[in-house]
Amino acid sequence: MAVDDGNDTDQKTRYICLFRNRGKVKALAEKLYEQKCLDLDKEFEIHFGIAHTRWATHGVPNEVNSHPHRSDKSNEFVVVHNGIITNYKDLRKFLESKNYVFESETDTEVIPKLTKYLYDNRENEDIGFSALVERVVQQLEGAFALVFKSRHFPGEAVATRRGSPLLIGIRSKNRLFTDQIPILYQAHKNNKNDPISKAHKIEHEDFKFPGEDKTVEFYFASDASAIIEHTNKVIFLEDDDIAAVVDGCLSIHRAERSVGDSASRTIHTLQIELQQIMKGNFKAFMQKEIFEQPESIVNTLRGRVNFTNSTVMLGGLRDHVKEIKRCRRLLLIGCGTSYHAAVATRQILEELTELPVMVELASDFLDRSTPVFRDDVCFFISQSGETADSLMALRYCKDRGALTVGITNTVGSSISRETDCGIHINAGPEIGVASTKAYTSQFVSLIMFGLMMSEDRISMQERRKDIIAGLQFLPDLIKEVLSLDEKIQQLAQELFQHKSLLVMGRGYHYATCLEGALKIKEITYMHSEGILAGELKHGPLALVDKLMPVIMIVMKDSCYTKCQNAMQQVAARQGRPIVLCAKNDEESTKFAYRTIEVPHSVDCLQGILTVIPLQLLSFHLAVLRGYDVDFPRNLAKSVTVE
Ligand code: G6P
Repeated sequence: MAVDDGNDTDQKTRYICLFRNRGKVKALAEKLYEQKCLDLDKEFEIHFGIAHTRWATHGVPNEVNSHPHRSDKSNEFVVVHNGIITNYKDLRKFLESKNYVFESETDTEVIPKLTKYLYDNRENEDIGFSALVERVVQQLEGAFALVFKSRHFPGEAVATRRGSPLLIGIRSKNRLFTDQIPILYQAHKNNKNDPISKAHKIEHEDFKFPGEDKTVEFYFASDASAIIEHTNKVIFLEDDDIAAVVDGCLSIHRAERSVGDSASRTIHTLQIELQQIMKGNFKAFMQKEIFEQPESIVNTLRGRVNFTNSTVMLGGLRDHVKEIKRCRRLLLIGCGTSYHAAVATRQILEELTELPVMVELASDFLDRSTPVFRDDVCFFISQSGETADSLMALRYCKDRGALTVGITNTVGSSISRETDCGIHINAGPEIGVASTKAYTSQFVSLIMFGLMMSEDRISMQERRKDIIAGLQFLPDLIKEVLSLDEKIQQLAQELFQHKSLLVMGRGYHYATCLEGALKIKEITYMHSEGILAGELKHGPLALVDKLMPVIMIVMKDSCYTKCQNAMQQVAARQGRPIVLCAKNDEESTKFAYRTIEVPHSVDCLQGILTVIPLQLLSFHLAVLRGYDVDFPRNLAKSVTVE
């Protein structure tokens, strides 16, 4: 079984893997190898292994439901799958009627069994592996990235995708001869007697090398961070591409060419550094990512904001600004933390653009079949750029003729490729499942968009200057907030045994309440609710007593007095507010049971400084409660299923 360690194989070994989650896959792959006895292909000195950490959509997480799944006990066909097969019930019924016996509760198992069925009933003896896979995926509905392996096709790997991300990493010690791989539009002709022409495959001769070393390795993975320690050369597959590695040579097939399709796939050189995805001295990736925020914000701003003449230029939107200015409304769409970035910036975007701004959870937006028009501009905010609901909402808006804008952290992701234009937030790879630095960079990116839109409005010049100056100081202020870490850890000591934690605020800080509560529930498994302080009297006040911890965000902005009122109401019910306020705000600390004081910034940027203490608090609470901060139960970093 090939796992993510390239050092222990001989020089001419080639190997291919599907990774989704680095650390876990290695252990899992080794275990599966023992249990399901996947052979290494010795022919042509090829080693090929597949493994997958599955998202338990169908069936509990146990050994029988884990991947790879197989066609039969002798492993004629084995498959790993990321995604969801929505018509699996019909397929399973059909295959059971043909006497196939299923071992697992997964949707995936229909795939290897269907492959065997189509292989056993082939009309042509010479059918090739990729042609067979093409027939299989024609029968599948849903979202999938798949890698296939078969005893009938030793030394061959076939991979394909529809709706779920899939990329191929290429590693060789020698320089790559080409950076384009042409598509072969004849997968059906790929039979054993019809070899693929040289022009349509990458093989070891394509690597210029001075010596004898012809080693080439191909990695199939859902995410670049899984393979970056081996290679930064990557091909992003498109929906319905079928990639095959035969005798160590890679080719990419498609059934047919549609208008506008590119005739080749580019080999990209990723800029991610291995060091960026190493934990270093931190206990968890999440902790590292929280502490990276002074730099990630600088990276988001770099080359875009001119602090001398107070201008903002977002290269990815430059050609579309005129069109955006003419639009009827802005829609900000996302899931989880990315949705909260929309909530956080809605108010300032309304102010700077003077346009109606709707914020939408992608799933709800789709459930409602929300009306969308040609003169709408729809933003898709997504760290991964692969979240299934956001991607489907994007396609929905495109179909209705709206202009689509991506705000993503992942170059080459589906959302960044399928939107008309966009902003890369440049926060660097985020590994921890609980999103932190991506949130603050999404926040800043949306503010930069507002600034770019308001550049020629005379009445807004002062406001714009203040915000731009605020952006310049932000990294230093973030450092100041991070220096509160020890104090926040002490607070966590007092809170970690509680069952529930409320977070209250309003105006610019409602988003901080939602995001803080999400962080807490994601990784500490405590009940936590973000509450709009304006709603206090309409229900949440009933929860308040002397035992319930309530974090209250009270900043010196237009909601200051209202927040103080809310705080007094909590104190009057013997509640013990933990107050998150501006430095030296003596008024607010009067009623406080504990205080966390953060430096002052411009009102619309202050949310970045109030969310960080809550990121830190959730981290310390999770550590004290003994949980794995980076891999919370039941959650995934990239949710590529509906
Ligand atoms: C998952 C992650 C969250 C993330 C959400 C949206 O639920 O666990 O941290 O906020 O997906 O992900 P995206 O990649 O679209 O920002």
